[in-house]
Amino acid sequence: MTAPNLQFLIPNTQYPIPNTEYPIPNTSSAIIAAESAHTSGVYPKRPLAIVRGQGAYVWDADGREYIDCVGGQGAANLGHAHPAIIQTISAQAARLISCPEIFYNDQRARLLAKLIEVAPAGLERAFLCNSGAEAVEAAIKFARLSTGRPGVVAAMRGFHGRTMGALSATWSPQYRGPFEPLVPGFSHVPFNDLTALEGAVTGDTAAVLLEVVQGEGGVHPAQAEFLHGAQALCRERGALLILDEIQTGYGRTGKFFASQHFGIEPDLMTVAKSMAGGLPMGACLIGPRVGALPPMVHGSTFGGNPLACAAAIATLDAMRGHVPGTFRSAWHVTEALPDRAARLGSHLMARLAAIQSPLIREVRGLGLLVGVDLRVKVTPILQKLQTLGILALPAGSTVLRLLPPLVIEEGDLERVVDAVETVLAPGK
Ligand SMILES: Cc1ncc(COP(=O)(O)O)c(C=O)c1O
Repeated sequence: MTAPNLQFLIPNTQYPIPNTEYPIPNTSSAIIAAESAHTSGVYPKRPLAIVRGQGAYVWDADGREYIDCVGGQGAANLGHAHPAIIQTISAQAARLISCPEIFYNDQRARLLAKLIEVAPAGLERAFLCNSGAEAVEAAIKFARLSTGRPGVVAAMRGFHGRTMGALSATWSPQYRGPFEPLVPGFSHVPFNDLTALEGAVTGDTAAVLLEVVQGEGGVHPAQAEFLHGAQALCRERGALLILDEIQTGYGRTGKFFASQHFGIEPDLMTVAKSMAGGLPMGACLIGPRVGALPPMVHGSTFGGNPLACAAAIATLDAMRGHVPGTFRSAWHVTEALPDRAARLGSHLMARLAAIQSPLIREVRGLGLLVGVDLRVKVTPILQKLQTLGILALPAGSTVLRLLPPLVIEEGDLERVVDAVETVLAPGK
């Protein structure tokens, strides 16, 4: 038997930074100045330079530790520096990184089989890509191609990405406004309003596109009757149901995919974010009501690359608690992560709901996708949390969104609740 490669089990502070001819800025202020000189400007950045992560912690360049409830905006469900991901990426990088889909590849073949195994029933084909928006673009194109119809009905407050097709499905006027005219044929109905949906789906509708929990739009879970009604309506009127599980997938809500809480079988399903342990990857899963997709109708240079596929296989295994023996002892969580998200999420929501603060309107969510709806703007609250060592997200202007890695320890969630209670205390 060969000895385990312990190089991957050392704390990640010990990884050397590769040599470069440019001096590497190594304080927060130097990094912020250097990045600000050339960045595009499209991101409202926080003045924080994150340089390292482990589990549910990240550290800034000055060595300050934070509990990470941003979780890579949903890309870090597995936690930072998971040993199985480090090992897999390193090994696959040494073997093969690029292999376009004009060829077959061992990692891609394994990933597709494993992905279909965890997907809702009926989804037996997949198009692999590199981001959430790309997965949504693929779903829209496949729906139009398969039905020969142009229309897409999406939901108010829905978020599906920022490329032109995905943006046409995204609702917020703030994101859409500067880019009108968008792709024709898109309309929006109030979320959870089945009567409005019945009025909007016509013989021109290719697809109904919905999130199972609206994430960016304020953490609003779908009602079971709405999802079942949407599925029945699509089947009755010859449209396809596309579920966007880009934020809700990969264990986040307490099931591997959120649609599995409701027994919904979408015709197309989009995934991305945590799919490849934090590497960029997306996929559009395809069901039997979608016709055959002929060669050349869609494609992507990086789609299905072996590096991302290998990381995605390791992610699926680790999420389901199948951490190989070598890594098990080096990692603090071996429980299946969807179960952990369900358990910790209920506890977190109960603890947040018990906070006595006039600033809280409602606590809602599913699993570890949790929103605290406030009576005040959320930005100053996020800043106060940051000074207490907690990083969190907004969802709209008044909702505090917590999206921690699913491996977060119970004790750290308690610290998050204590910090939220402190910053929402009257007079703070
Ligand atoms: C539900 C949903 N769909 C699509 C996207 C877009 O994904 P990406 O940023 O990878 O393009 C997001 C991103 O936040 C999302 O939450």
